[in-house]
Amino acid sequence: MPSSIVNVRITESQQQLTIDRPNQGLSVQGRIRVPGDKSISHRALMLGAIAKGETTIEGLLLGEDPRSTARCFQALGAEISPLNEQRVRVRGVGVGELIEPTDILDAGNSGTTMRLMLGILASHPDRFFTVTGDKSLRSRPMSRVVQPLQQMGAQIWGRNGNSLAPLAIQGQSLRPIHYHSPIASAQVKSCILLAALMAQGTTTITEPAVSRDHSERMLKAFGAEITTDPDTKSVMITGPAQLQGQSVIVPGDISSAAFWIVAAAIVPDSDLTIENVGINPTRTGILEALEMMDADIQLENERIVAGEPVADIRVRHSQLKGCTIGGDIIPRLIDEIPILAVAAIFASGQTVISEAAELRVKESDRLAVTATVLNQMGAKITELPDGLEITGGTPLTGTDVESYDDHRIAMSLAIAALNASGTTTIHHAEAAAISYPDFTATLRQVCEEC
Ligand code: S3P
Repeated sequence: MPSSIVNVRITESQQQLTIDRPNQGLSVQGRIRVPGDKSISHRALMLGAIAKGETTIEGLLLGEDPRSTARCFQALGAEISPLNEQRVRVRGVGVGELIEPTDILDAGNSGTTMRLMLGILASHPDRFFTVTGDKSLRSRPMSRVVQPLQQMGAQIWGRNGNSLAPLAIQGQSLRPIHYHSPIASAQVKSCILLAALMAQGTTTITEPAVSRDHSERMLKAFGAEITTDPDTKSVMITGPAQLQGQSVIVPGDISSAAFWIVAAAIVPDSDLTIENVGINPTRTGILEALEMMDADIQLENERIVAGEPVADIRVRHSQLKGCTIGGDIIPRLIDEIPILAVAAIFASGQTVISEAAELRVKESDRLAVTATVLNQMGAKITELPDGLEITGGTPLTGTDVESYDDHRIAMSLAIAALNASGTTTIHHAEAAAISYPDFTATLRQVCEEC
């Protein structure tokens, strides 16, 4: 029985996660919970901040990204109780009532914070805002939200033709539009929906494929006039709207659960249950892809919690086979592609992932980085212009690898290391705290319960 297979070594300048895999006897076992859903946590803080009255949030993710959202909206006038309280309280200002902050708003590493907040800020007449983020966020495209906001009448300035942060926003009275988004992006959709709260009339957003719908569900619960048409992949919202504070219960994040689902699927003799995970159909592409690969996954205790479907997910090891994915499923597993690539390494045959070029503009270029770091461990992954081709069945060997400061890469590497011989050292593994501050503790737990 391994006593301590996971060793965390922390030096002053950087954090490393070192995983020594024993030759035998490792399996992934037990019952665990994952932290709150990141997308829902951002939205609960933001809607709470612009609603009238009090919003309470249970199960909020305490990761760095929601902390960035909370700091920005505190600077904009919302009162937010300490985030580590079991029930976080947000006292909102009312739609259109945010104050002009005296300093730059910093979204840190969080694309969701910056893009959704831009919609809210752009629709605040007579107020001026500046927003920035970390090095990664300052290189990510903002034109995807700046352009539709400009069509609504927004005034936004920034580097590279107003497409890169830092950005300056002079709030305006906006008009409704019908926006045909060229990309399936919940951040783009949500930005426009939030801007439309203050526009007089109905704004429609049509997507090429349906992206996550947490904004639609939560805006409806807070009292907005919003409808969806699945046939045309459109969302309609009518402003001006007033929102009323609500009680939000945040389910566990399926994007965080995905690491453990894949761990249990690939490590022999594993049997793991992840409790209380959000299974909103716009997020369950990872379960469908793994089922196509013959993974042994069962949903137990399915229920609806505060408007979102939730279940316990039981996963047992099985021999996986390769699969081909692309098209409408991609936005439904967009954040899970690095960990899906890890699963594909241990599947027989080839896995081909296409139409996923969006991964190039995430926290890192996740197509390039996933292929690079997993190939350093012995995988056979070819980078495609819009995806990855993975030839399964090649054993992995532990080595020194880099997270590229991308939380999902750091965690995908840790799961790959569970099935690699020898020692894997992940540099800059502290990036995991963006979405999963207790990742290493849970890694220890699932490995030591065997
Ligand atoms: C998110 C939407 C997705 C996802 C991100 C969170 C959200 O981004 O990758 O992690 O909360 O709306 P895109 O909208 O850019 O696809």
